[in-house]
Amino acid sequence: MINVESIRKDFPVYLKQPNLVYLDSAASALKVRRAIDGVDNYYQALGVNVHRGAYSLAYEATKLFEDARKTVANFINANDDEIVFTRGATSALNMVAHAFRDILKPGDEIITSELEHHSSFLPWQVIANKTGAKLIYIPLSKEGRITIDGFKKVLNKQTKVVAITHASNVMGYVTPIQEITRLAHKEQAIVVLDAAQSIPHMKVDVKALDIDYLAFSGHKMFGPSGVGVLYGKKHLLDELEPFEYGGEMVDEVEKHHASWKEAPLRLEAGTPVIGGAIGLAQAISYIQTIGFDHIHEYTHKLHQYTLQKLKEIEGVTIYNETAENPVITFNIEHIHPHDVATMLDQYHISVRAGHHCAQLVSKFLNVVSTLRVSFHIYNSKQDCDTFIQAVKATKDFFLSF
Ligand SMILES: Cc1ncc(COP(=O)(O)O)c(C=O)c1O
Repeated sequence: MINVESIRKDFPVYLKQPNLVYLDSAASALKVRRAIDGVDNYYQALGVNVHRGAYSLAYEATKLFEDARKTVANFINANDDEIVFTRGATSALNMVAHAFRDILKPGDEIITSELEHHSSFLPWQVIANKTGAKLIYIPLSKEGRITIDGFKKVLNKQTKVVAITHASNVMGYVTPIQEITRLAHKEQAIVVLDAAQSIPHMKVDVKALDIDYLAFSGHKMFGPSGVGVLYGKKHLLDELEPFEYGGEMVDEVEKHHASWKEAPLRLEAGTPVIGGAIGLAQAISYIQTIGFDHIHEYTHKLHQYTLQKLKEIEGVTIYNETAENPVITFNIEHIHPHDVATMLDQYHISVRAGHHCAQLVSKFLNVVSTLRVSFHIYNSKQDCDTFIQAVKATKDFFLSF
C-alpha cells in the first residue's frame, strides 16, 4: 500500500516546492533521492572514466557502471550484454533506425502508427524516404487504439520492421504487443518497441514479449535525464551498424580499416553516461522496492477519481476515457489549452499543453492541441482535488469575458 506522505519524502523537490501539484510525469517524472544520491556519489567520490584506467578508482567506477547495466538487464529480464546505455529513448530509437539505412530496399515496408511519439516514427520516416521503403500506418480503432485486427490489415511479406509504441504518451493506451510481435515474427519482421511510457508503470519482460529492440529513458522513471537504454537481442546488437564511431567501441584499428567490439560496447562509442547510468540503476531499485502492483493500484485510483470529477465539468471533452496508463487528455470548450495551462500554473499545478511531440495524434483527434495530466506515486488525492477546483475556476474566469 502506498503512503503518499512517506513517498514524498523520497522526492526532494517537494522540500523546495512544498505547494507543487505535479501532474506532468509523462513528460518527465520527479527525481527520487536515491537516484540523485547515486549520481552525486559518482561525481563526488569517483568522477573518473570507465573501462580505461588501470587504477582502483577506475575499477570502482567501472564496477558501478557495469552493475548498473546488470540492474537494468534484471529489470526487463534481459542479459547484461543486451543493454546499451544511450542518451535517452530518442537516441536509442534513432540508433536502430539509422542502421536500417543500408538494409531496407524499395518495396520493403515499415509498419508504424499515428499514435507514435515523434521519436518513434520520425527516424523511420527519414529512413523510408532515403531507401524507398514504404511507411505503413496501422489503421487505428475508432477510439484511437492499435489493435490486432488493425495490425493484421497491414502486415504482409514485405513488412521488414514494426516500430510502435508500447503505451501512447497522449492516449495512455497500451498496445497488445505480445500478439503483434508473434505475428510480426511469422513474417520475419523485426519489432522495435518504444517503451518510454510503459516502463515507468508496468513490468516489461523482453523475453516474455520476445521483443527485438526496446527503448526507454531514465528521466521518466524517477532517474536522471541524459540517460536511456536500448535493449536488443544480443545477435541483433552484434550486427547493428553503429551510429557513432570512436573510443572504446573498436577492436582492431588499421589505417584504412577497423573492426568493432561485440555489443554492447560497439554501440557505446566515447565516454558513456556514467553518472546517468548509476542514477538510473538507483531509480530502478527504488521502483522495485515499491513494486509495480502497488504503483498501478495507487495511480489507477488517482486516475479514475480525477477522470470522474473531470467528466462532471460541463464543456470538458476527454479524449481517452479508457486509457490503461494514468494519463488524461482533454480540452475545455472555447479555451485554448495553453491558456488553461498558464492559468493552472497560478495554482502551482503543472500540466502539459500542446501536441505532446505526437502531432499525428492531434491530427487523428482533429484538434490543434490538448491538455494532458499524468499521475505517479507522489501525487495525492489532494492534488486531484486542487486540479479539479482549478479547472473549474479557470473555466469560469475565461468564460466570464
Ligand atoms: C512515448 C515516448 N517515446 C519517446 C519519447 C522520447 O523520450 P526522450 O525525450 O527521453 O528521448 C517520449 C518522451 O516524451 C515518449 O513519451
